[in-house]
Amino acid sequence: MVLKEIPWSLLREETDKMKQIPMLDLRLEYEYMKEDIDSAIKKCLEHQRWILGPEVKELEDKIAEYLGVKHCIGVSSGTDALVLSLRALAIKLKGQEYFDRNDKIITTPFTFTATGDAVLRAGATPVFVDIDPGTYNIDPVKIKEYLQSAIRNPQSAIRGILPVHLYGQACNMDEIMAIAKKYNLFVLEDVAQAFGGMWQGKKLGSMGDLSAFSFFPSKNLGAFGDGGMVSTNDHELAKLVIMLLKHGGKDKYNVDHIGYNARLDTLQAAVLLAKFKYVDEFNDRRRKIAGLYNEGLKGLDGVVLPIAYSQSPIALNHHVFHQYTVSTSSRDHLQKYLNEKNINNMVYYPFPLHKMAVFQNGRSKIADGLKNAELACKNVLSLPIEPLQKEEVTAQVIEAVREGAKKLLG
Ligand SMILES: Cc1ncc(COP(=O)(O)O)c(C=O)c1O
Repeated sequence: MVLKEIPWSLLREETDKMKQIPMLDLRLEYEYMKEDIDSAIKKCLEHQRWILGPEVKELEDKIAEYLGVKHCIGVSSGTDALVLSLRALAIKLKGQEYFDRNDKIITTPFTFTATGDAVLRAGATPVFVDIDPGTYNIDPVKIKEYLQSAIRNPQSAIRGILPVHLYGQACNMDEIMAIAKKYNLFVLEDVAQAFGGMWQGKKLGSMGDLSAFSFFPSKNLGAFGDGGMVSTNDHELAKLVIMLLKHGGKDKYNVDHIGYNARLDTLQAAVLLAKFKYVDEFNDRRRKIAGLYNEGLKGLDGVVLPIAYSQSPIALNHHVFHQYTVSTSSRDHLQKYLNEKNINNMVYYPFPLHKMAVFQNGRSKIADGLKNAELACKNVLSLPIEPLQKEEVTAQVIEAVREGAKKLLG
């Protein structure tokens, strides 16, 4: 693959001006893809088909082929992709518009609020199960333990599992799919952070009954605003999602279900089509930066690096490093130190879902202790991972983390 030259001048000008190393630099990315994006937008200006224009179908078809699934459906955000998927499941499985409060959906407490919130909006109750402390993803052993105890209660009504491929790293999908099969549960994958990621050579978003993607601007494939996608191999679920996103009917003026206006914008689809060309290259660039971080931060006392099983695309876990996240008991001090050095960093996430007011007052259930998720919220810190970031910048971040950790941890 011939790579375009990176407009370093822009990066230098910007970083000098702001004296900051950003988490992500979307201006730089735009410069890199400018011709493709500008011509995609120009095409829209010429045809003026703003609602469900040709770009939406073209993007759906391209991503369906990329994932190896039968249906992809563009929607207005990752959150809506989750809500519409759950609503379609309620209609298919229960013959009713929403789940009942007694219907439980197993998910992780260590994710963005939208994952759990979508379960509430679909009428069901999220059951939070703890994470694996190494990958930060939901722990299949804990799911099994919960199911073994819950299944003794005939009222339990557990309907499905909603795993999140956090930071771009796959959940253990072999285990999750086997559990779902055994207990007759649906699986809805939250792939918001992991476009292009794989598990055992299979694309994330191709294994569950349905999957939800986000095209929020900072995601691995990001639009110029909100956007999302649902993927599925189930024809009936696809038809339901298509109805729900357009007010709930096959016919616009004679509707069947309680629907939404949740379409993907033509303009966003056009931008996404232009950026889609680069997504594998950009994921490779992210993996390369992660490799440099792994090398440079190796053996640093008190700082735990992310677990990536392998960098090979056909290997067990094809991590796409939406975030490069370290963990340290001196997180707040390290964060302060990096801030002083003008190195941007983020805590994803400072609070586990079960501690938030929205999930309290009986709105969620907790499966036996969520210690790993609670500890992760105290210790994690994500470092800059702009795919076009220069090696010098990565080296600067490494040096600052090493200095900071040595000072703070003694
Ligand atoms: C894990 C996860 N799920 C769901 C979402 C929701 O996506 P959106 O912001 O496009 O609604 C996000 C986005 O931040 C996310 O990170």
